[in-house]
Amino acid sequence: MALTFPHRETFSTRILDWYDQNARELPWRVGPADRAVGILPDPYHVWLSEIMLQQTTIPHASRYFLEFVQRWPTVQDLAGADRDDVMAAWAGLGYYSRARNLYACAQLVAEMGRFPETAAELIKLPGIGPYTSGAIAAIAFDEQAAAVDGNVERVMSRYLAMDKPIRDAKTDIKSMTEKLVPDERSGDFAQAMMDLGATVCTPRNPACDRCPLVGDCQAFDLRRQSEFPVRAPKAQKPTRYGTVSVVVKDGELALVRRPETGLLAGMMGLPTSDWLTLEADLQVPESANAGKAVIGRVEHVFTHFRLWLDVTTEMNTGEKEIVWFPLESWKSAGLPSVFQKAVKLYLKH
Ligand code: ADE
Repeated sequence: MALTFPHRETFSTRILDWYDQNARELPWRVGPADRAVGILPDPYHVWLSEIMLQQTTIPHASRYFLEFVQRWPTVQDLAGADRDDVMAAWAGLGYYSRARNLYACAQLVAEMGRFPETAAELIKLPGIGPYTSGAIAAIAFDEQAAAVDGNVERVMSRYLAMDKPIRDAKTDIKSMTEKLVPDERSGDFAQAMMDLGATVCTPRNPACDRCPLVGDCQAFDLRRQSEFPVRAPKAQKPTRYGTVSVVVKDGELALVRRPETGLLAGMMGLPTSDWLTLEADLQVPESANAGKAVIGRVEHVFTHFRLWLDVTTEMNTGEKEIVWFPLESWKSAGLPSVFQKAVKLYLKH
């Protein structure tokens, strides 16, 4: 890779000037004008938003963020909440291990009295990895730390016309971005890079005519901006399948508490069979769930696999501790999305 390394000051000045004019208004954000007159972001808001944004879009996260801060205005309030209430409030955001980590992290921070202020300290907390620690340290405390998310990776990959897929260039991109973080306004710089990636340097049809980096962007110089990042060959997700039971008796729905470890750990769920793994590209055998009063099938895509569950109105054998929950208020049970799909299918049936 023949990379001409950008000049740090030129780069960050362009980015920050652009941000001053174009920053998005986000519910957890202190915008550049307020930041310039000394208004500081609330570290609790920054942390909560970053955890939510690890897995979902800004519009979806915004709704949850506002609900959380209204219900639990401080990290101490969140730490003092009932864990099941927090898990249920998280339902629909997916990846429940994040909610468990969120809760565990809140406990630790409440004990410490405040959030640690450096990426090196933040990364020791549950649910906070390299990206999130950098983002919180920069945004909440203006530490000179980089926050390299998918948006920033795309900006850098284009800016430097990198000939490797992002998957194989993560370390290079991270260290280059770290070298570009300015001494001051590191938090605004981090947010500016994210906004630029999300609104201008978009995955498809980047709006190079609105980009502050256009003069130096190597992909644009080649007029090949849409060809970067170079695509990596796609890995197939394996498929698992099984059955899920929607059993209703006297207006009550049978639920089970999922085990404390593994997928959707600790959540309330519907009873299911074991999930078998299917070889890539095969279909679930027609006969797999024959004779089990199947009313339809739901599909859900998790990070590492796709799951097909045939929905049955019969109980899976071997269920021990059923919790009977009023069917009419099933939406307040905090069921993970895959089980919500099964209940909806049952109700339509
Ligand atoms: N994506 C993740 N965190 C973000 C933030 N703080 N601002 C904008 N986009 C983001």
